[in-house]
Amino acid sequence: MSKLLTSPAWQALVEHHKQISPLHLRDLFAQDPQRFERFSLESGGLFFDYSKNRITEETMTLLFDLARQTGVTERIQRMFSGEKINITENRAVLHVALRNLDKNPIVVDGEDVMPKVNAVKEKMFQFSDEIRSGERTGYTGKAFTDIVNIGIGGSDLGPVMICNALKNFGHQRLTMHFVSTVDGDQVVSTLKKLNPETTLFIIASKTFTTQETITNARTARKWFLDRVGNESHIAKHFVAVSTNAKAVSEFGIDTNNMFEFWDWVGGRYSLWSAIGLPIAIYLGKHDYQDLLHGAYTMDEHFKNKPLEQNLPVIMGLLGVWYINFFGANTQLISPYNQALQRFPAYLQQLDMESNGKTVDLDGNRVDYHTGPVVWGDAGINGQHAYYQMLHQGSQLVPIDFIASVEHPDIPEPHSTILMANYFAQTEAFMRGKNEAEVRAELDKAGITGTAQDALVPHKIFEGNRPTNSILIQRLTPRRLGALIALYEHKIFVQGTIWNVNSYDQWGVELGKQLAKAIEGDLTTPGLTTSHDASTNGLINYYKRNVPR
Ligand code: F6P
Repeated sequence: MSKLLTSPAWQALVEHHKQISPLHLRDLFAQDPQRFERFSLESGGLFFDYSKNRITEETMTLLFDLARQTGVTERIQRMFSGEKINITENRAVLHVALRNLDKNPIVVDGEDVMPKVNAVKEKMFQFSDEIRSGERTGYTGKAFTDIVNIGIGGSDLGPVMICNALKNFGHQRLTMHFVSTVDGDQVVSTLKKLNPETTLFIIASKTFTTQETITNARTARKWFLDRVGNESHIAKHFVAVSTNAKAVSEFGIDTNNMFEFWDWVGGRYSLWSAIGLPIAIYLGKHDYQDLLHGAYTMDEHFKNKPLEQNLPVIMGLLGVWYINFFGANTQLISPYNQALQRFPAYLQQLDMESNGKTVDLDGNRVDYHTGPVVWGDAGINGQHAYYQMLHQGSQLVPIDFIASVEHPDIPEPHSTILMANYFAQTEAFMRGKNEAEVRAELDKAGITGTAQDALVPHKIFEGNRPTNSILIQRLTPRRLGALIALYEHKIFVQGTIWNVNSYDQWGVELGKQLAKAIEGDLTTPGLTTSHDASTNGLINYYKRNVPR
């Protein structure tokens, strides 16, 4: 058995779980009028209520013991001090340096990284100011109207999520487009709408070798040249964001038009780096800095607060409680704010690419579950789709409910109805509806006797289903920055407890390697026989039927 499972803190939680699992949240609320005050806190402008979780004070004490015994506090310090905690890639993990607003030195390999971080930020701000003001123009002297970010994964999901969430803060003249998939549909349908004179392309790729991005970038360049006919205009319309200057210049983008970042920024943590260029262009310097400021506030909270008052620590521990002790496999993210619709997709990469691991830091296979399946969409749509399963299905699915208090420019009664549903759902998940309540309702509706008996089991809601509620005063750049950093650090806490490397992603490599080989098979005439029977069969079916 692993060190984690035999640790005193884990063993104590196993025992404690036996006592807790029969308890119902209804009763816990009834017994403790202070439960809401006891299990809620505020940080970075985010109000976090975790009282609707299957916990008591003892649970939290034992979970904090687990955090202490697994070295969460020490590891936080190690990350912030630039230690190479990404051991399989021998890299520091320093997205926090990109929002280090107090500008304290952060040293990697004997070098303070802050001067170069700040220099790239200044270059981004100057560039984005010039685009926004219209001073920097396309080749015919017209101001840019459309910005196309070509990137995938971490070079796409953060910027697209933020530009959608903060539309109210975006520049009126600018329309943002994001192209990620390689099926051609996205890039072709995006390009159709554009005028080359007023379009800026940002080719965003940490490695600048990602097949999807480079293919889309080539298609965009061809589209541009077909219309413009002069290579020299590329410089005004194509910029790159990357760690790989050589590949950028080989692609044909002058490295003067490149915004740099570094290997100690993980792809899924890179929106704070130059990968955030589309965000800076759209929001402008002030609001972009506010976004960083929000994240910085959460960083300071995470670094300095004791475990017991530490929001990402509490959130991470609650996740561990359900995954490892209640057997929950998934985590639903339910934003009650249309602007956050892309937030679950963003978190999917952040969480699943970070903690979707089965080998621990010592190279041993783990004997416990690690990262969950993260999923979700706008909460109110979910109510009319998958919430049935969440209320009455056989699996326990912990849910994060996220909403903002103010909804500027939204006419009533929309906000009131939205928020009524937000509160109603967390109450329903917690309380459920018991047999006596169901029978009373049926009596009132005049359904009695055997008809009532037949219906009762179907109408019972067990309840006792855990939820976190996050309330944000208003969805601003600063609050969104804090929210993103909250989840980043929650993932860090869980990775630390599970003793996995949350900062590599070897699991994405195999598919990439095989795709390269199969690309050759698809363009070679004749039968393909080099794979297993199923893969050969599918490839050959495709080759027989694809129009040539
Ligand atoms: O394939 C996964 C991945 O490597 C992610 O980790 C990364 O965010 C994405 O691909 C894009 O990579 P790049 O920015 O190097 O193009």
